[in-house]
Amino acid sequence: MKSVPVVKLADVLPGHCRSVQADGIGVALCNVNGTIYALDNICPHAGGPLGEGSLNGELIECPWHGWRYNVRTGERPENHDIAVSCFPVHLKDDVIHVMLPD
Ligand code: FES
Repeated sequence: MKSVPVVKLADVLPGHCRSVQADGIGVALCNVNGTIYALDNICPHAGGPLGEGSLNGELIECPWHGWRYNVRTGERPENHDIAVSCFPVHLKDDVIHVMLPD
């Protein structure tokens, strides 16, 4: 695994999500009550940018057609067979780092 710095913690406010690039990979960062989660930014439905959507509790909603995913598990609450990848994150000096496979 490699640790890739992306943005400052202050750039992802609680209750919000955003898209970032981590070493060329699109990642959706989500702040749920101060805890940061990172998911693959590409919606499995038709490729919508999840980080451009909205966050409601632990659920991120795709901006294109509204499919939702749990940010802790990556799974759709409506269909657990469909999920996006989740990436571990950690904070270092108030900067969010995403852990990516080598
Ligand atoms: S592309 Fe995400 S819901 Fe359709």
